[in-house]
Amino acid sequence: MDRQYQSEREKGVVMHPPVGSGEAPRAQEVGPVEAEVTHAKNVAPVDTSAVTPRPEGSVYMGGFRAPQIDCVRVAVIGLGERGSLQTLHFLGIPHCEVVAVCDPCDDATGAVADRIEERTGKRPAEYTQDPSAYKTMLAEVKPDAVVINTPWETHARMAIDAMEAGAHALVEVPLALTLEDLWRVVDTSERTQKHCMMLENCNYGRNELMFLNMVRQGLIGELLHGEAAYIHELRSQMFSENRGCGSWRTNHYAARNGNLYPTHGLGPVAQYMSLARGEDTFDRIVSFSSPAKGRAAYAKKHFGPDHKWNKLDFQCGDMSNSIIKTKQGRTILVQWDETSPRPYDRKNLIQGTEGTLADYPLRIAGERISPGVPESLEEKHPGGAEIPSAGGYHEWYEGEEAEADLYAKYDHPLYKRLGEEARQKDDRGGMNYIMLYRVIECLHNGEPMDQNVYEGAFWSAVGPLSEKSVNEGGAPQLFPDFTRGDWKNTAPLPVIR
Ligand SMILES: NC(=O)c1ccc[n+]([C@@H]2O[C@H](COP(=O)([O-])OP(=O)(O)OC[C@H]3O[C@@H](n4cnc5c(N)ncnc54)[C@H](O)[C@@H]3O)[C@@H](O)[C@H]2O)c1
Repeated sequence: MDRQYQSEREKGVVMHPPVGSGEAPRAQEVGPVEAEVTHAKNVAPVDTSAVTPRPEGSVYMGGFRAPQIDCVRVAVIGLGERGSLQTLHFLGIPHCEVVAVCDPCDDATGAVADRIEERTGKRPAEYTQDPSAYKTMLAEVKPDAVVINTPWETHARMAIDAMEAGAHALVEVPLALTLEDLWRVVDTSERTQKHCMMLENCNYGRNELMFLNMVRQGLIGELLHGEAAYIHELRSQMFSENRGCGSWRTNHYAARNGNLYPTHGLGPVAQYMSLARGEDTFDRIVSFSSPAKGRAAYAKKHFGPDHKWNKLDFQCGDMSNSIIKTKQGRTILVQWDETSPRPYDRKNLIQGTEGTLADYPLRIAGERISPGVPESLEEKHPGGAEIPSAGGYHEWYEGEEAEADLYAKYDHPLYKRLGEEARQKDDRGGMNYIMLYRVIECLHNGEPMDQNVYEGAFWSAVGPLSEKSVNEGGAPQLFPDFTRGDWKNTAPLPVIR
């Protein structure tokens, strides 16, 4: 892989330095809109999918069961907005203990350590001041699991270091920013036999769990198409100028052009389709971005002419549109927009031969699931003389009453078990709490993780592959097979009870 990417770097198409290379992310290899048009004739798929054999001694991690851990000793790296909330969730979950926390910002570290001490009577070890303090923490504390809630460009390096140090890695989204780093993460997990789960919390949303439950019952027939998105206007993050998410994330909009945050919408749809799990897998992707306008306009409106945001040349199209084709020929539309003033939307749509489930707002339609659809044509049209032109599925079944009815009929067993407790403990409707509960439950019981390292890699690969496609005028890009063919023997995620 490295040789291949070396040559791509020479051609100027790989936009990020390898982890640990010491180079800053390189800006400006993404052409302007005119360049897309010029390159649009080149539509032959570009083969980025070459796979080297799995090294001897390494083990396929799909379905892998690690030894049971009685009480999981958790260490947390990154205590900003996400990490500080995430850490406190662990305090209410059985069979785990937060033993160490780490962030170069000592105020953030101290504040989280204070909260842990207040709630548990035990103060975790604190590692702070230095960006590499986490390495000392790994060596001294030897945690069972490490949660990584840091800026995107650090995820792969930290996950690799955590696994090398003997810990399972639990990594915020996305898993890594380049294909070469995704391979490094996969290879390290296989070599060390440590789990590396990307923490895609949206897979644990109530509606996502319910759709998974409905799809597994065959209620919408054979799956054909999905729609996934992360549409969330986040321009105000630019006011976090020196610390906080906007301080680092804003630079990505200047340096890259594609889908920078693909996994919130895609993770659930990929699990409905059991992609990389026996049934089907990722094949190729095409991607186009809209013009990049909103960030520059916002910077001009809200910051002075000499402000650092007004010195950036924003390249990332405000709306990114990709279509993924699976090996079985299914399609998935993946959109991303953190800039345009419009309501939040993850789409969460799954369509089959017999119906469609969709979200924002929650709504369904189908031959078997819409109310008012006759059991059989015979029932509505005795003798079969007339072909029906309308059924309940011509209108969405939606609204408050419909929602209550759907939850009563189809709520996922995991949500029934944990939903109420989760809603009380987690202001995002419970998805974060349920996810972390499952993570600890799997490690405690020695079960496979709900999201294996390959799923994290495939979902995150939409980032670099969409960038490459945009850079080449929308040319199709092949997904590398991170499983090296083993997806065929991997069980679909069951309906967890
Ligand atoms: N799944 C979700 O719903 C969700 C929501 C928000 C953020 N996130 C993800 O969480 C991650 C963090 O986002 P955030 O909003 O908390 O950002 P943030 O900027 O608020 O926090 C990042 C923290 O990481 C710390 N950090 C940076 N380098 C470090 C190092 N070398 N060692 C230890 N700590 C280091 C920073 O000091 C900061 O406190 C991102 O990957 C983001 O995409 C996920």
